[in-house]
Amino acid sequence: MLGSVLRKSARASAGIARGSRGYKVAVLGAAGGIGQPCGLLMKMNPLVTELSLYDIAGTPGVAADVSHVNTAAQVKGYAGEAELGAALKDCDVVIIPAGVPRKPGMTRDDLFAINGGIVKGLVEAIADNCPNAMINMISNPVNSTVPIAAEVLKAKGKYDPKKLFGVTTLDVVRAKTFYAEKAGLETSKVDVPVVGGHAGITILPLFSQATPQAKNLSADDIDALTKRTQDGGTEVVAAKAGKGSATLSMAYAGALFADACLRAKNGEANIVECTYVESKVTKVPYFSSKVTLGRDGVDTVHGLGTLSAYEQSALDAMMPQLESEIKKGVDFIKGA
Ligand code: NAI
Repeated sequence: MLGSVLRKSARASAGIARGSRGYKVAVLGAAGGIGQPCGLLMKMNPLVTELSLYDIAGTPGVAADVSHVNTAAQVKGYAGEAELGAALKDCDVVIIPAGVPRKPGMTRDDLFAINGGIVKGLVEAIADNCPNAMINMISNPVNSTVPIAAEVLKAKGKYDPKKLFGVTTLDVVRAKTFYAEKAGLETSKVDVPVVGGHAGITILPLFSQATPQAKNLSADDIDALTKRTQDGGTEVVAAKAGKGSATLSMAYAGALFADACLRAKNGEANIVECTYVESKVTKVPYFSSKVTLGRDGVDTVHGLGTLSAYEQSALDAMMPQLESEIKKGVDFIKGA
């Protein structure tokens, strides 16, 4: 799959001549569990010609290591706040996996206070150094960190709702994998939209819209697959037993989403991804649904299509949680 992603990127980048500028991408939190493999995958992306690896510490080593991979991107490591501005200067895409991950027994919301503060500082620096960048927010709780980022950008007069994305790609990756496995389908041919947010019951895979449609799954199977997708992160947190949350699959998903942003920026048409953006699809102001990406970010936010009765009731049930997690993010910046 990654091979095909990279082949697609190679096709898309055919217009970028050797030595000329492609895109500058920064990974913030680049020495972490997600940041390191995500940096490696971005080094392998042919649309990237400059790669900034930023963290509070440890990035000179990560950058030296990644820089030896024989692809075009020039890699630089930046460590500590004094170097954040240089890391971000004129970036096209900024990927943010900075912050603390969950331990067993924690919800994503338990990370709110510490990660909210980290995201606030990083997004302020983005507003100052690369206000036109597409921001790919991975740091949890995504349901709240995206509204936090939006409020920070609004306060700086730099908010563009077309360029701020909560990365929910890992939920899509999981839904596809679990569905294909259960239905006996070829994983790489399966597509499943996932809508809502990125925490617990706010994650809603729409198996009624999966392609191809499996004919051999019962209502109980769909319920079990829905719950497994919602709890996929917790499954990894428990298996890692205190050593963090999903890192490798998240780096893969983060690289897929960043690649989609870069291909759209590069003029490739029909790039559609599920992502958590400012939205009018439901009554809450941020929501994940299918989005067509264009050169300037969000082109079209698509509606939900026809839902099954099961999906409609799950959608209704998630709304209070999503609404309160969004409000918590907004209040963090504006004051309650
Ligand atoms: P980690 O602890 O391995 O790495 C986080 C990195 O962020 C560390 O290297 C740390 O030094 C760095 N950091 C802390 N403060 C920073 C700051 N002010 N500026 C820049 N870097 C800073 O954690 P991991 O496993 O990589 O997870 C990172 C985040 O991603 C967590 O919030 C986690 O919950 C989230 N996550 C999101 C997923 C999603 O689907 N959106 C899936 C899995 C994790």
